[in-house]
Amino acid sequence: MTQPTRTRSQAAEAAEDAGSNPSPNATFGDVVAARFDRRDLLRGLLGVGAIAAVVTPRALAAGSAQAAETPTRFPFAEIEAGSDTHHHVAAGHDAEILIRWGDPVLPGAPAFDPYNQSAAAQAQQFGYNNDFVGYFPMPGAADPAGHGLLVINHEYTNEELMFPGLGRQDIKSVAFAGMTQALVDIEMAAHGGSVIEIKRTAGRWAVVPDSRYARRITVETPMVLSGPAAGAERLRTAADPTGRAVHGMINNCAGGTTPWGTWLTCEENINYYFSGALPPDSPEAANHKRFNLPNSAYAWGRFHERFDISKTPHEPNRFGWVVEIDPFDPTATPKKRTAMGRFKHEGAAGIIAKTGQYVVYQGDDERFDYIYKFVTTGRAESGDRDLLDSGTLHVARFDTDGRGAWMPLVFGQGPLTPQNGFHSQADVLIGTRLAADLLGATKMDRPEDVEANPKTGKVYVMLTNNGKRTPDQVDAVNPRADNRFGHIVELTPDADDHAALGFGWEILVRCGDPAIAAVGATFSSATTRNGWFGMPDNCAVDGQGRLWVATDGNSPARTGRADGIWALETDGQGRGTGKHFFRVPCGAEMCGPYFTPDDTTFFVAVQHPGEADEDDPKAVPATFEAPSTRWPDFDPALPPRPAVLTITRRGGGRVGT
Ligand code: FEO
Ligand code: CA
Ligand code: CA
Repeated sequence: MTQPTRTRSQAAEAAEDAGSNPSPNATFGDVVAARFDRRDLLRGLLGVGAIAAVVTPRALAAGSAQAAETPTRFPFAEIEAGSDTHHHVAAGHDAEILIRWGDPVLPGAPAFDPYNQSAAAQAQQFGYNNDFVGYFPMPGAADPAGHGLLVINHEYTNEELMFPGLGRQDIKSVAFAGMTQALVDIEMAAHGGSVIEIKRTAGRWAVVPDSRYARRITVETPMVLSGPAAGAERLRTAADPTGRAVHGMINNCAGGTTPWGTWLTCEENINYYFSGALPPDSPEAANHKRFNLPNSAYAWGRFHERFDISKTPHEPNRFGWVVEIDPFDPTATPKKRTAMGRFKHEGAAGIIAKTGQYVVYQGDDERFDYIYKFVTTGRAESGDRDLLDSGTLHVARFDTDGRGAWMPLVFGQGPLTPQNGFHSQADVLIGTRLAADLLGATKMDRPEDVEANPKTGKVYVMLTNNGKRTPDQVDAVNPRADNRFGHIVELTPDADDHAALGFGWEILVRCGDPAIAAVGATFSSATTRNGWFGMPDNCAVDGQGRLWVATDGNSPARTGRADGIWALETDGQGRGTGKHFFRVPCGAEMCGPYFTPDDTTFFVAVQHPGEADEDDPKAVPATFEAPSTRWPDFDPALPPRPAVLTITRRGGGRVGT
């Protein structure tokens, strides 16, 4: 979900713009400003001032001409950056629609009819705004890279593009005037996730109809809270006096897949769904405020009491978790893993540490919020299906000397005591952000995906943007004020041990147009005018250890290009070289991405196609009747539809070679 250009209401945007982190945690300022210049100079990457002083746009353009001579692990033919109503993929590849919003998931699902949609139909069909995509090979399959389960998050809904005649409802003057319970219930059924069985036949992927694995998860699906916070008083409601039984998950953004075959799906902007005001002197006030909650960007609280915090002040505490789901058992109850913390989880990509423990890296996607990792107590291969209920959550502090520390969030340690409002580990987990504030974590420029590279042990952190960082708030690891284009940080765990408490760090690339000196972008000089990007969001590391970056927020008005996938060299002479591989149709953001284990298929998700370019003041507001594209059907009677695509190499072989 894009912030702030596509936050769902003007009121919401005002609240989100400041971030919700008032803590005095470090911004190191000009004491350390010199550091990134020195480090970047050592690596041949120039700082803003240096670029302005010595490198003209003409010189950078000349550098682009040398691209073909630079050794590359990405030999595909780069596509043109730009934007139109279609998607585009590098030559020699096919990008085909696998499943769209409204397509059948459960056996017997009705055909998609946006003019007569119902919650009952939607709950059997593919949901809206596909974000995370994960692939699980089918055990025992003759071709494990050609037959498996695909799990997909449905993050949020665009009512203006989904419902005929409605228009946008979250603008202040309209105030959800057209929303009815029937429409809200369709929205709720379009959130959550899907499990589908897919199979490749003669090189083409298709959904297996009527699969026994098919499943829709919605806002009504029964789930349990497990781990240290389960049952806590602050998780109990009148409807659930146990504090352990929740209905559904919301705003599931990115996620992860575990080596034991489960799907981790991450609740992110849960504050959007709650409205109302807390009773006077509510003990939840400070924690809800730190979560920008309520944000009232949806009308759900009007029809469902649990989304009105004046009636159910604890209900928000039951969201904002990582949810673990067994895709191979459609009857399995999803589990919200409270040990992994409660914040705006972007994703949950894991790796097995040298110690055998499972380590899950997590970003908290808000301006000035933090990067976390969870380290299990037990070993990944222990066979314990509740491995994620026991372990230690840590938050990152980045020091000026290129070192960093993972600080444990443990009740009773350091400031996490009753004196500061923490009476149990449940309090620490329910109020993760407040606990991390006290530890002095480093405020980042909106942490999105954080993924480890199993080939090198390096960890990549996507920091998507932060237009609110002021010049006196820059620090070594967030070195740009008004950071509109984001950057990528690379971590190196001490002793190649992902469970270690120390790490080193470097800025891999500062994003944006290298031809505009004031932007201060640091793509390598081999990067062409198509190869740079802004706003890194999701990422994938393929089987060869190559990094692929998906973006959210590029647009004709903002960067002269649509969002998409860029390959990014991380090592060797070409380090910091971007190369454009795929682009989405207008109005969309790029989600997924995920490779089959043999890299022959690359799954990508196109989210909210057809929105207007909100950075363009002249853009016509997009509606069901007037979207910016009717991708992927291009049927004048149909709205645009979020969809998952398969990208394969024509004739077979590894994608992007
Ligand atoms: Fe849902 Fe952080 O993007
Ligand atoms: Ca996003
Ligand atoms: Ca995202």
